[in-house]
Amino acid sequence: MKGEQLYSGKAKTIYRTEDPSKYISEFRDSLTAFDGKKKSEASKKGYYNAQISKKLFELLESKGIRTHYVRMLSDTEMLVEAVDIIKIEVIPRNIAAGSITRRYPIKEGTVFKKPVMVMDYKSDEYGDPMLNEDIAVALGVATYEEIATIRQIALKVNEILIKYLDERGIALPDFKLEFGRKDGQILVADEISCDTCRFWDKETGKSMDKDIFRFDKGDLTKAYEDVAKRIAPEIFQ
Ligand code: C5P
Repeated sequence: MKGEQLYSGKAKTIYRTEDPSKYISEFRDSLTAFDGKKKSEASKKGYYNAQISKKLFELLESKGIRTHYVRMLSDTEMLVEAVDIIKIEVIPRNIAAGSITRRYPIKEGTVFKKPVMVMDYKSDEYGDPMLNEDIAVALGVATYEEIATIRQIALKVNEILIKYLDERGIALPDFKLEFGRKDGQILVADEISCDTCRFWDKETGKSMDKDIFRFDKGDLTKAYEDVAKRIAPEIFQ
């Protein structure tokens, strides 16, 4: 089933399959931060992120949002639709944290009255600089219509995730979404996991995400396991 390796990113490897319309996305235990300057491995990280992504993609599909998720092939391998990835990272922000607090006079923990939508150009070479619509169109990465659609989907995903996570004792300061084109439609792609979201425990305020690795805040596998227990309890039965 697993064909030629198409691409190996920082935390996932993408393979072709016998069916040209499907790829396999394999979640690995490797971790990188700060443009690849900091690297490590964490056992079971790939497993927990794969299971969390699976559940969140299924949740979005159940609410009418199209994603690239097809089904799991193993604990860490996800069969996905082969999409043409749009080189824009969309980051809905609900509570200020991370880069927005370094670039602007906004204190960490500030709750935004409405989601602050940020778009970055997905480019390791250029360090993922922030985009506006005109720059994105000038770069040829998307059309104005596609950007409007992406923004609408991201806002809806944000609403769905905030509610779902809140019910499980998790706050969602921000997260990153990627999108792909398939047959004239736009699908949510990549992953939605502890590596791509900020998850804060609602009671303690503690990070349950990749900030643990970025800023040496403790036991990463334990925190990812805690998120998995709340989002995918069935895998522990
Ligand atoms: O670094 P920054 O604060 O801008 O990150 C915002 C959110 O987007 C965080 O949840 C982070 O994990 C995610 N992100 C990501 N991939 C990137 C940049 C940010 O998943 N390349």
